[in-house]
Amino acid sequence: MLKLNNIEAVYSDVVLALTGVSMQVTDGNVVVLLGNNGSGKSTTLKSISGVLDTEDGELTEGSIELDGKRIDKMKPETIARLGVCHVVQGRPVFPQLTTEENLLMGAYMRKDNGVKADMAQVYEYFPKLVPLRKQKSGYLSGGEQQMLVIGRAFLTRPRIMLLDEPSLGLAPMMVAEMFTILKKINREQKTAFLIAEQNAAAALSIADYGYLLQNGKVALEGTAPVLKEHQGVKKSYLGVTAGQSYYQMKSSELRGQNQS
Ligand SMILES: Nc1ncnc2c1ncn2[C@@H]1O[C@H](COP(=O)(O)OP(=O)(O)OP(=O)(O)O)[C@@H](O)[C@H]1O
Ligand SMILES: [Mg+2]
Repeated sequence: MLKLNNIEAVYSDVVLALTGVSMQVTDGNVVVLLGNNGSGKSTTLKSISGVLDTEDGELTEGSIELDGKRIDKMKPETIARLGVCHVVQGRPVFPQLTTEENLLMGAYMRKDNGVKADMAQVYEYFPKLVPLRKQKSGYLSGGEQQMLVIGRAFLTRPRIMLLDEPSLGLAPMMVAEMFTILKKINREQKTAFLIAEQNAAAALSIADYGYLLQNGKVALEGTAPVLKEHQGVKKSYLGVTAGQSYYQMKSSELRGQNQS
């Protein structure tokens, strides 16, 4: 279990990005972190993986525990070794390396002999990557790159993956496909996920639990079904008006029939 207790995060000694944030990710659960631009989603994930100081940020209050053991003073490498893998915002592939070489980077710390089997497993989860094995990853589409970085994270064999806006800039079909695969990984591998997302509809469709951040604070939390039905979430984050779902609304917009 990953637990954040009342954390406060500050950048450059002055920018208060998080205050009094408490949340938890139970083993094997999918938890979604919703919130607008600047609400503190990325900062929350960076606090967990221990990379805040690379951006002159600092945890100034509270604690973060993994199975009751404090990890908030640990180095990012140590936290990663404990099975917490952070996929940062913006699909950071090594553009000059091929798909396969990128994937192997995920396994570079591993000493066990399961890498080959896990590689096959990644291609099974993400069949779109198979014909792209030898392609330079810089030429892959946004969706393919997102699958690649998640596949690379999978190869670290994490117990919990922190994903930062995986759906950003992807077409609705690709978003749906990606979340279906994430759910499959969660179910089959028991990997827990903490997913920062602005696409609330897609993320809540696979989540067990969710938190809504506003101005660096948890404004709302609840199970995914409860959040999906919450009027405020519906109005502000699900784009639902008069019973339309997110996808219905998008497709009607595409057809130029949006009446809202
Ligand atoms: N490196 C930084 N230096 C100073 N301030 C920062 C830094 N990174 C983020 N912030 C500030 O901290 C707050 C939270 O930012 P954060 O990136 O966590 O939000 P977010 O919810 O991930 O937003 P987005 O949806 O745009 O990615 C914002 O006010 C932002 O301006
Ligand atoms: Mg962010």
